[in-house]
Amino acid sequence: MSFAVAIDGPAAAGKGTISRAVAAHFGFAHLDTGLLYRAVGACVLEGRDPVEAARMLAPADLERDGLRSPAVAQAASKVAAIADVRAALVEFQRAFATRAEGAVLDGRDIGTVICPDAPAKLFVTASDTVRARRRYRELVEKGIETTFEEVLADMCARDARDRARSSAPLKPAEDAVMLDTSQLGIDEAVAEAIRIIEARRARV
Ligand code: DC
Repeated sequence: MSFAVAIDGPAAAGKGTISRAVAAHFGFAHLDTGLLYRAVGACVLEGRDPVEAARMLAPADLERDGLRSPAVAQAASKVAAIADVRAALVEFQRAFATRAEGAVLDGRDIGTVICPDAPAKLFVTASDTVRARRRYRELVEKGIETTFEEVLADMCARDARDRARSSAPLKPAEDAVMLDTSQLGIDEAVAEAIRIIEARRARV
């Protein structure tokens, strides 16, 4: 029987790391849905129409280089506010969520819109400073030149846009379990996520 895990939250809260580890632990498939919006954002930076790009999106587009850059992240957040872009990406995400082996999807609207019936939902958060510090380190490790202040400002602008949009805004589902990773190391955060999912699994 398929089992879907929805992991939502703002930028750099630890969703990606937690989702990958949880998927590996349970043997579930993992979809980073932010990559869909990043791929559309990258097309827009090349001058393409966002809705057309979303409708034409192919799996190979998610493997493109440069999708993790700050410029693409901002473009992704902008195209993500367009209702027709979101609509074009729903079917692929819902189909992924029903994978027979089980699935973990991480994003902003998985528990609220994509998989409202998911038996396990987490909303991962951390303070602005902690998130910006983590993202800053990641970017520096990748050789991207930036400053902490720039990362913090970019991240806050993106979160504000993701929360304020009318179409599928970033917010916790009513039945999501909140997981604040500000004071947790990676192993602790992953262990806590697994504990939450195990508890939900026991109920199904
Ligand atoms: O998770 P991420 O930082 O890679 O996501 C990039 C942008 O895509 C994010 O700012 C908002 C958008 N997004 C979204 O609107 N819905 C999702 N399910 C995933 C991402």
